[in-house]
Amino acid sequence: ETPPPHVFVLFGATGDLARRKLFPGLYHLGLTGRLPADYRVIGSGRHSPGSDEEFAQTIREGLEEFVDDLDDAAATDLLDRLSFVVSDADDGEDLAEAVRRAEEELGDDARRLLYLSVPPGAMEPMIGMLGRTGMAEDARIVVEKPFGSDLESSRSLDAALKDVTDEEHVFRIDHFLGKEAVQNIIALRFANRLIEPAWNREHVVQVQIDVPEELDVAGRGSFYESTGCLRDMVSTHLSQVLGFVAMEPPVRLDATSLRNEKAKVFTAMRPLDPERVVFGQYEGYTDDEDVADDSDVETFVAAEVFVDTERWQGVPFLLRTGKAMGDTRRSVTLTFRTPPAGRFGEESLAPDQLTLDLTDTPRMQIDLQAKRPGPTMDLTTACVDLHLPEEGADGEGLEAYERLLLDVMRGDQTLFTRGDEVDRLWQVVQPILEDRPTVRSYERGSWGPQEAVDLAGDVGWRLPDGR
Ligand code: BG6
Repeated sequence: ETPPPHVFVLFGATGDLARRKLFPGLYHLGLTGRLPADYRVIGSGRHSPGSDEEFAQTIREGLEEFVDDLDDAAATDLLDRLSFVVSDADDGEDLAEAVRRAEEELGDDARRLLYLSVPPGAMEPMIGMLGRTGMAEDARIVVEKPFGSDLESSRSLDAALKDVTDEEHVFRIDHFLGKEAVQNIIALRFANRLIEPAWNREHVVQVQIDVPEELDVAGRGSFYESTGCLRDMVSTHLSQVLGFVAMEPPVRLDATSLRNEKAKVFTAMRPLDPERVVFGQYEGYTDDEDVADDSDVETFVAAEVFVDTERWQGVPFLLRTGKAMGDTRRSVTLTFRTPPAGRFGEESLAPDQLTLDLTDTPRMQIDLQAKRPGPTMDLTTACVDLHLPEEGADGEGLEAYERLLLDVMRGDQTLFTRGDEVDRLWQVVQPILEDRPTVRSYERGSWGPQEAVDLAGDVGWRLPDGR
């Protein structure tokens, strides 16, 4: 079933995200027949990219760069529906008029989707404008992360949103939740009996959520200067993954039940301890032309987090992510307690580990202890390597942003973050914003500063050795 006719208004239409993800996403949804039969896309921003034709041409170049085997007819179909109208926080009348005209063309059941892909500082004034011009009315509003830049600004942003609309119309996007592999955490945990009984403090000694990236900040220097890794990745993507890993079984998988359980995890998260957070910056970061020579913005974070629930009390969750690191991965590793080793004549046993590899070819790996073949009872580590299905249920994989765009069109908020979650996550990181850890330098292609290696204690980081 395809959604009703839509007017998509995209703020930040000439930005990096639009080029890399949003336009390719719309294109692919169109190609696979998931877009409404009729729709318009209106790009907007403070500076005109030229005529509509020139704008379409820029977007076409983006598609050519980021889509394999671009289907020309599908691309043209999308680009034909595209226009650009200049707007800013003080003046949105032309845009509002263009939206009204587009809706008239589409008919009475047309829906309005406003996508705000703008930096946190620009968000609030823009929302005011959406209210004043009437554009916010009945619109679904997608808000890119980070939502604000600290607790205070996030509350003020939330209040601004609530002034012009209600929570039901707000879609705070965190694209990690749109990833198949991340949603699979829910399926693996709650659709099986083998895993969940051991998924708690009684059996687990440590959890790692590790998202190293080889990519550096090239081309996004100014975004990084004002955001940093903690806000870009930790209070957002990594915390959302933690929410799925740590939550209690939701009774249903609807927006209310799932988000209630996730919100409880965040409520139980202890505010971060500056002593247990390591900040790093890769060598050469300040060479970027958009980066200050003396910048102490972090491009790497490792942090120890505790979730004070019955299930997880006392179990450290280690989060790590950074740019220009040794590998690009997304993994969750649970390390299990070891049984007494004496019967094997050993001082200690290697711990069992369960690793979820959340990359685009998702896998689950379990390391178990087994007998080493031979005349004595010696042990060795054996590994179960499970390749999880890669494709969506209908045989067509959806990229995270595509899935989430579709959910907005369907009005389904399940995979979007709620105001109370975001508020709590700012409370959790606030001690770090107030008392910033020293930023330590690390080599490009490494695993971050030594202090971060030490944070994992005796267990050690699962990556890079165990893979
Ligand atoms: C974005 C961050 O939200 O997520 C980037 O702003 C990061 O810094 C990216 O590289 C990672 O997403 P993905 O889908 O490429 O793993």
